[in-house]
Amino acid sequence: MGVTKISSTTLPLMAAITLTILLLLSSQVCYAQNAPQDYINAHNNARSKVGVGPMTWNTTLASFAQNYTNKLKESCNLVHSGGPYGENLAGSSGDLTGTAAVNLWVAEKQYYHYNSNSCDSGKVCGHYTQVVWRSSIHLGCAKERCKNGGTVISCNYAPRGNIIGRKPY
Ligand SMILES: *[C@@H]1O[C@H](CO)[C@@H](O)[C@H](O)[C@H]1NC(C)=O
Ligand SMILES: *[C@@H]1O[C@H](CO)[C@@H](O)[C@H](O)[C@H]1NC(C)=O
Repeated sequence: MGVTKISSTTLPLMAAITLTILLLLSSQVCYAQNAPQDYINAHNNARSKVGVGPMTWNTTLASFAQNYTNKLKESCNLVHSGGPYGENLAGSSGDLTGTAAVNLWVAEKQYYHYNSNSCDSGKVCGHYTQVVWRSSIHLGCAKERCKNGGTVISCNYAPRGNIIGRKPY
């Protein structure tokens, strides 16, 4: 690499370019935790740990989730849509990434007992069992910031899981 000379007039330009690159990088870092591939990776990590095959991103489900989070952001109350798909919701009073939302659901794994297909009393396991439901191979998620500063995240699954009396895998 050759010697580079930087004159006093090019320095501000260099600084401006560097700042632009940093801003682009930081917006990418933010986006990185909420991109389709991030939701997919977080789900597929949990699935592979129990020998369940991967999900793929589905734009129909993602649009459904986006429609619904656009409604939820008004109140930020986590109420299910009653739609035709499996649906996991997560919320926060502040910001929450897509990856963090999926990890909240996967954390229910500690309460779930595969042999008896049951959950510790007083605990919830249904978000986890939907994540690892073998036949739910289509995934679409969306995130919206709420009017009150919170966050709402919805993931939709098809075919829907959590069929009563069946094990996830
Ligand atoms: C999203 O909402 C629009 C407007 O209400 C509707 O036309 C569209 O069918 C919805 N899309 C999905 C995937 O639910
Ligand atoms: C997306 O999911 C819907 C609902 O299950 C399904 O009908 C459709 O075939 C899926 N699209 C793709 C490209 O897999």
